[in-house]
Order: sequence, then C-alpha cells, then structure tokens
Amino acid sequence: MRPVQLTLLLCVDLVAQTTNPHTTPDDVAAGARIYRSHCADCHGLSGQGGKGPDLTQGQFYHGASDAALLVNISDGIPGTAMPGQFFSPDQVWQVVAYVRTLAAKGSAKAPPGNAAAGEKLFRAQGCANCHLVNGDGGVNGPELSFIGSQRPATHIRQSILQPNAHVDMAYWQADIVLENGTPFKGFLLNEDTYNVQMLHPAKGLLTLPKRDFRKFAIQKTSIMPAYQGTGLDDLVAYLWSLQRPRRPE
Ligand code: HEC
Ligand code: HEC
Repeated sequence: MRPVQLTLLLCVDLVAQTTNPHTTPDDVAAGARIYRSHCADCHGLSGQGGKGPDLTQGQFYHGASDAALLVNISDGIPGTAMPGQFFSPDQVWQVVAYVRTLAAKGSAKAPPGNAAAGEKLFRAQGCANCHLVNGDGGVNGPELSFIGSQRPATHIRQSILQPNAHVDMAYWQADIVLENGTPFKGFLLNEDTYNVQMLHPAKGLLTLPKRDFRKFAIQKTSIMPAYQGTGLDDLVAYLWSLQRPRRPE
C-alpha cells in the first residue's frame, strides 16, 4: 500500500475514535518500547527533550487532546523535523498512553529565581552575543527563543554551568592552519577525503582543500564559557520562562 493511502485510512479511523482506547499498563509498556526505539533519539530517553521538545511538561503546542496527539504522532508535523511514523493506529494509541505518563511527571513547575533579573543578566553577561532570543542576538550557539519548552530546568542549569556536558556535533569546531600559515577556526560542517567545510564566524561557509593543510584538529569541547557568576537561579528562571506560545486552536 502506498503511504498516501495508508495515511487516508488512518485519518478515517481517527475521526471515529477520539479518546484513547489503549491505556492499560500493558499498553503503556508497549508504548514505552516504541518510544525508546523511535522517539527517544529526538525527545530524550525520559522525554526531557533534545532535537524535539520536552514532552514532560504536558504542554503541547500542536494540540493536547488525545486525538491531536494521535494525528501528530502518526502523521508527523508538516514543515518541522517531527516525522510521520507508519505504525498501526493501535500502536500509536499505545505511544499516546506512554506520552501521557511522561507528561504526568509534571516538570512544568517554574524553577525558583527572578526571570526579569535573569533577562538583564543574560544581556549583561554576553549570552546574547551567541544566542538568539526572539530575533535579537548572535548565532554562534543555538537559538533559545523557546528553550523553556524544549528543555527541562535541570538541563538548562547544567548547560550554563558545564557547557561541555552536551556538545552536539553541530557545535564541534574545525581548527585548521594552511601550509602558508593562515589559521581558520569555525564550526565543522562536513569532511570528506579531499575537503573540509566549515562555518567561519567572519567569512561564512568555507570549503578548504586538505592538501593545503599543515594542521587539522577537531575540537569537541564547547565554545561556550562555563558561567561562574552569581544569579544562576535568575538566568535559569528567565530561560525557562521562554515558552512557546500555544498555537491557537
Ligand atoms: C527526528 C526527530 C524526531 C523524532 C524521531 C520524533 N520527533 Fe516528535 N517532534 C520533533 C520535533 C522537532 C517536534 C517539534 C515540531 C515543531 O513544533 O517545530 C516534535 C513534536 C512532537 C510532538 C508535539 C509537541 C507539541 O508541543 O505539540 C509530539 C507529541 C511528539 N513530537 C511526539 C513524538 C513521538 C511519540 C515520537 C516517536 C513515535 C516522535 N515524536 C519522534 C522531532 C522528532
Ligand atoms: C561564545 C558563544 C556562547 C556564549 C557567550 C554563551 N553560549 Fe550558550 N551555548 C553556546 C553553544 C555553541 C551551545 C551549544 C552546545 C555547546 O557547545 O555547549 C550553547 C548552549 C547553551 C544552552 C543549551 C541549549 C540547548 O538547547 O541545550 C543554554 C541554556 C545556554 N547555552 C545558555 C547560555 C547562557 C545563559 C549564557 C550566558 C551566561 C551563554 N549560553 C553564553 C555558545 C555560547
């Protein structure tokens, strides 16, 4: 059967069924197995978020009803990195049941600290030089506009104190010196037998031929300085308050 037909069939089924018929402990366990193999890579092993949003907060921008979760998990979310998955509707319901248990852990409680003071610190400490928040800031680190929806407060706190704890490959640095002595350092994008591609902070996208290299090292540590100042709670409270607004239904 072609994927399009399958999706149509799924949709017909969905309209008929709007509350989850699969919520027994066995269903939750089956959902957990599917989750670990197909979702954890992006949403974290315990739902804490990663490439995809934090699912432990119980706040779903794209719809929080059982029916909305079913559609989003089976069809994916068009225009985003959330893929459609071709499971049977029964299996998707089991995943929905498991996702509900993640949400029930309720990490949605605001962490202590003063978000307004944290916002001032964020600017004063130069965090905005590297991080974009709501269209304002630098691009040498990930955008943080919705970091509160993407990550639990514990992760935010750890990222600030120990930037090296989770350095995604996307932030590894290529450290290159050419035979003629010219140095280049920037985010490593790609490497093959002949060339290295990097995103240089001033020169943008560069492709450099390996035959010209005197030195080539890959630096897997973070360019982000570990924060040692005061007001850590305030910084965490500010970043956690950057929640994605709910999509109007
Ligand atoms: C390749 C990475 C990836 C995989 C694999 C993935 N997701 Fe997602 N998911 C995302 C991203 C990214 C979003 C956010 C889409 C957006 O709003 O931009 C998302 C969104 C969601 C949402 C909606 C959140 C909201 O706020 O409404 C749910 C629910 C969800 N995913 C559950 C799952 C489940 C369950 C699985 C496994 C069956 C899964 N995802 C697999 C990346 C992924
Ligand atoms: C020199 C650039 C730079 C500066 C300055 C900087 N960061 Fe970062 N930050 C990064 C990069 C790059 C990452 C991506 C992961 C890594 O390398 O650690 C990151 C990751 C993060 C994350 C985790 C994001 C995620 O999705 O997991 C948080 C939170 C964060 N930074 C907050 C801050 C705060 C708060 C400050 C100021 C005290 C700050 N950063 C200063 C570059 C920077």
